[in-house]
Amino acid sequence: MQQENQTNPNIQTIKIWDLPTRLFHWSLVILLGVSWASIELSDNAFNIHEYSGYTILSLVIFRVLWGIFGSTTSRFRTFIRGLQPTIAYAKTLLQSKPGNQIGHNPLGGWMVLLMLGFLLFQAVTGLFSNDDVSSEGPLAHWISKDISDILSGLHHESFDILLVIVGLHIAAVLFYRFFKRDNLITPLITGFKPLAGETPPKLRFTSNWIALLLFGIVIAGVALLVTKA
Ligand code: HEM
Ligand code: HEM
Repeated sequence: MQQENQTNPNIQTIKIWDLPTRLFHWSLVILLGVSWASIELSDNAFNIHEYSGYTILSLVIFRVLWGIFGSTTSRFRTFIRGLQPTIAYAKTLLQSKPGNQIGHNPLGGWMVLLMLGFLLFQAVTGLFSNDDVSSEGPLAHWISKDISDILSGLHHESFDILLVIVGLHIAAVLFYRFFKRDNLITPLITGFKPLAGETPPKLRFTSNWIALLLFGIVIAGVALLVTKA
C-alpha cells in the first residue's frame, strides 16, 4: 500500500507496521504502567496487577508467534541481523541524515528481543512470586516457599532492569527523532511512513484475523494455566 506525496513526488508514503504490532506496542505501554501502579500505589489492587500481568504475558507470547507468522516488518527473520551487519550499522549511528529504514534497524532489533525477554521473565517470575503477606502468583504453590522467595526477589530486581532498558529504548527513539530526523513514533501509531528515494520493497501483511486467532489461542492457554493450576 503506497501513495505519492502531494508536495514532493520523490517521497512515497508506505504502510510499514500492521495493526496487530501497533496494538501490541501501545497496549504494552499502558499495561506496564498499570502493573507498576497497581502494586506500588495501592495495597489492595493485587487482582489488577495479576490480570494486567497475565495480559502482558499473553501479549509477549503472541508477539513471539507474530515474529514467526506475522507481516514482513514484524518477523524476527527480517529484523534480527548477525553481528557484522549490526556492527556496520552501529558505525553509521552518529550520521545525522534522515533515515529511510523500513521496520526495525539492526540495533533496534536486538533491543526488541531484549525487551521481550525481560517482559517474559517479569511475567513468568510473577506467576511464582509471593509477598509474604496475602498475595501470591497462581503457580507459587507448585514450588517451595524458599524458591518462591528467590523468584519474588528476581521479580523485583528484573523490574528495575526493565525500567532501565525501557528508558534506553525511549531515549533511542528520541535520538532518532531529534538527531537523526527520523520520526519512528508516528509510523508506530498510523502504520505509515514517508520514504524518499528508491522504490520501496514489497512488504507482505498477514491478515488481522490470523492475529486475532493467535491472540485468542494464547489468551485461552494463559487463562487455563492460571485458573486450573
Ligand atoms: C513503556 C514501555 C515501553 C515498552 C515496554 C516498549 C517496548 C517496545 C517493543 C517491544 C517494541 C518492538 C515493537 C515490535 O516489533 O513489536 C517497541 C518499538 C517501538 N517503540 Fe516502544 N516501548 C515502550 C515505550 C515506548 C514509548 C513511550 C515510545 C514513544 C516515545 C515508544 C516508541 C517506540 C517506537 C517508535 C518503536 C519502533 C521503533 C522502530 O521503528 O524500530 N515506545 N517498543
Ligand atoms: C510483566 C508484568 C509484571 C510487572 C511489570 C510486574 C511488576 C511488579 C513490581 C514492580 C512489583 C513490586 C516489587 C517490589 O517492590 O518488591 C511486583 C510485585 C509482585 N508481583 Fe508483579 N509484575 C508483573 C506480573 C506479575 C504477575 C503475572 C504476577 C502473578 C499474579 C505477579 C505477582 C506479583 C507478586 C505476588 C508481587 C509481590 C512480590 C513481593 O512483594 O515481593 N506479577 N510486580
